[in-house]
Amino acid sequence: MSTSADILTAPGPLTGRARVPGDKSIGHRALMLGALCDGVVEVTGLSDGEDNLSTARVFGQLGVRVERDGDRARVHGVGLDGLRAPAAPLDCGNSGTTMRILLGILAGQPFEATLVGDHSLTRRPMRRVLEPLGRMGLTVLAARDGTYPPLTVRGARPLQGLVYASPIASAQVKSAILLAGLWADGETRVDEPGLSRDHTERMLAWLGTPPAARPIHVPGDLSSAAFLLGAALLVPGSDVVIEDVGVNPTRTGFLDIVEAMGASVERTAPREKNHEPAADLAVRWRELRGVEVAGELALRALDELPLVATLAARARGVTRIRDARELRVKESDRIAQTARMLRSFGVPVDEHEDGLTVHGDPDRALTPGDIDADGDHRIAMCANLMALIAPAGTSIAGAASIATSFPSFHACLRGLGAVDAPR
Ligand code: S3P
Repeated sequence: MSTSADILTAPGPLTGRARVPGDKSIGHRALMLGALCDGVVEVTGLSDGEDNLSTARVFGQLGVRVERDGDRARVHGVGLDGLRAPAAPLDCGNSGTTMRILLGILAGQPFEATLVGDHSLTRRPMRRVLEPLGRMGLTVLAARDGTYPPLTVRGARPLQGLVYASPIASAQVKSAILLAGLWADGETRVDEPGLSRDHTERMLAWLGTPPAARPIHVPGDLSSAAFLLGAALLVPGSDVVIEDVGVNPTRTGFLDIVEAMGASVERTAPREKNHEPAADLAVRWRELRGVEVAGELALRALDELPLVATLAARARGVTRIRDARELRVKESDRIAQTARMLRSFGVPVDEHEDGLTVHGDPDRALTPGDIDADGDHRIAMCANLMALIAPAGTSIAGAASIATSFPSFHACLRGLGAVDAPR
């Protein structure tokens, strides 16, 4: 449970420069693909968030040494044949990406493993990866209700190559199958109904197949930077710059959406390492207007949609978010949780099966919020952003989950001028 000490308010505009932890998605892949290289992979910019730590810990149990020094890591890859059977269950913590992509790697290992996770992960559907991986040769020995963790699986070698038409656009599903393909006979290919984030494809192109040890830089996480950009768009007069943020086009839907709402996000100092583009991002506060978000745009902003709804609460006019049914099976049911959170601050929201309608008004008097984030870091951070501009008295349970992706969230906001809300 968090206390009001974790809740910040903005006494004036937020200003200055900040850096956010490394991109969580790229960090998982650097650790996992680094583990499969023959040799040492030097990783820079790695996040200290709990999700990436879960991946490092799990690969330690599989025989891969990961030496960490701040945001640097040396991953002692063991090659495609070097993982060893774990002596204990592999605890993936809160991280769905760890568990799902790991299942793809375990599919190709000639041993059994048990995967467990926290309360939230235990409710997340695994059939989406178990079914195609089963066709490739993975055996599920135990699963709660046939699909939920804890899971016990046994891999096989070689696997059978799979040409898979995925019913959902999911980077976790795509990555699990593509990585299983490293141990498969014949072609493995994934077609998806929309292009989900393509970090696995880019990293495989950088390292080659089989992967060869080369340095990997992890740029700042746009999904974390978005909260600081969002804070600047909520607090009048703000002007902030976030340095070295990944701007892979499969991830930049949030930037396109806030521009459609009337903000302008300036990208400077563009750079590219290991096929991942990055830039510094600058944003100044301005009044936003409501927007329509659906289709491909919703997919490219998937993890940021609760934040879009939060900004929409202060925009002029109605915002409609659709085609986002996947939000119901994230760390929490993010459609229901976002609606609950915004209503607790006095914002009218309609909930739909696949999205939300937010009735925005920059002049509406807010009430202090009261939300249980239910172990979901992004809902807790959205509630903290609303608290920046709401009257004192907000309470957020479950805010400790913020450490899964953005342990320096409060420190970054303080650095830009936010202060503890009065008790
Ligand atoms: C991720 C993929 C996304 C995203 C998640 C991280 C990844 O899920 O929501 O936070 O690193 O592969 P999908 O599998 O729905 O694309």
